[in-house]
Amino acid sequence: MTPLRYPHLFSGGRLGNVALKNRAIVAPMTRTSATPDGRATTIMADYYGEFAHGGWGLVIVEATYIDKQYSQGYNNQPGIADDAQRDAWKPIVEACHRSGTPVFLQLIHAGAVNQGNQWLKGSIAPSPVQPKGEQIDRYGGKGPFQMPRTITHAEIKQVATGFAQAAKRAADIGFDGIEVHGANGYLLDQFLTTYTNRRDDEYGGPIENRVRFHIEVMKAVRDTVPAHIPVGVRISQTKVNDLTYVWPGGVRDADVVFPALQRTGIDFIHVSAHLGCTPAFDAGLSLAALAKRATGMTIIANGKLNDPALAEEALTKRDGDFCAIGKGALADPAWPIKIQQGEAPIPFDPAMTSPLATVANTAAWRARRAA
Ligand SMILES: Cc1cc2nc3c(=O)[nH]c(=O)nc-3n(C[C@H](O)[C@H](O)[C@H](O)COP(=O)(O)O)c2cc1C
Repeated sequence: MTPLRYPHLFSGGRLGNVALKNRAIVAPMTRTSATPDGRATTIMADYYGEFAHGGWGLVIVEATYIDKQYSQGYNNQPGIADDAQRDAWKPIVEACHRSGTPVFLQLIHAGAVNQGNQWLKGSIAPSPVQPKGEQIDRYGGKGPFQMPRTITHAEIKQVATGFAQAAKRAADIGFDGIEVHGANGYLLDQFLTTYTNRRDDEYGGPIENRVRFHIEVMKAVRDTVPAHIPVGVRISQTKVNDLTYVWPGGVRDADVVFPALQRTGIDFIHVSAHLGCTPAFDAGLSLAALAKRATGMTIIANGKLNDPALAEEALTKRDGDFCAIGKGALADPAWPIKIQQGEAPIPFDPAMTSPLATVANTAAWRARRAA
């Protein structure tokens, strides 16, 4: 037997109650490949099944909207807001389970970063601040984002309940865990971020207030989903429409945010940094490692870990307990098997998600390559 080259990466682990055969996780990736009314499709079941086949320890399914109000952010984004949308996920859960791979669902509310909503016109946000940058073209957007209106107190409570109900629907049809999207500039992260949160109530101002909405959502979800199903949250500094934002309070913000999330009783924190596990602030530790240091919780690290040596190092250094891989997984669903066999995986090519980031366009890229 050849000795295993990446012993940490390919050792088993537990995420809450869920056993993973290795520590390589498919990061959530929006593919805008659902029906216009938000039902997951057959092509998506085939796509997620390929990861399960490819040897991943866990698949985290793309950002899925929670209600038929303002949570949808992209055309052809999937939802889990009603029974029809819920049932459309069953083939995806089955496709993953057929290969013995657990599957989690990521839940999202777009907030102000909304460029396609089937249900309502307009968008809501902590404060009426127009999102930076331009709508995302790989999700079919063009031009500036619309100006959001201020979310009301009643809506804040409704959205937290909406996350909990969506999570319950996901648990009911066999998803093995739930991840709330608290990152990347969407509604929850808009509360955390100083320039999009100008509130002067209990949700605005100091970091202890700006993290309050995350806390309420995570409590609502944790209290609603059966205890054996792990629940976690994704956190980042940067955003789809702002790749440079840094938490203004630095390490102190981390020491407030991560323990506050831990106190909600959740099972894991997923820390995403598009530049990878590089030191955050002047702490000499990555944001994932700061989350670990502040809580001792199960941490998923993400960002440029598709080089298995870097993933192995992140696990060894305790940046996290698991590594989520985005573009590397999209490029080659068989990444874990290939790495274990010493084969080079197919590298990511932006043409795989162009002109739109749909599953069909990636399939077309593969067909062109095979021809
Ligand atoms: C096509 C695409 C879609 C994405 N959609 C989501 C998403 O739905 N939810 C999320 O939290 N992150 C999303 N991301 C970010 C990835 O999960 C990941 O954080 C990012 O790609 C960095 O990891 P990587 O360096 O391994 O690619 C997406 C990334 C890509 C490339």
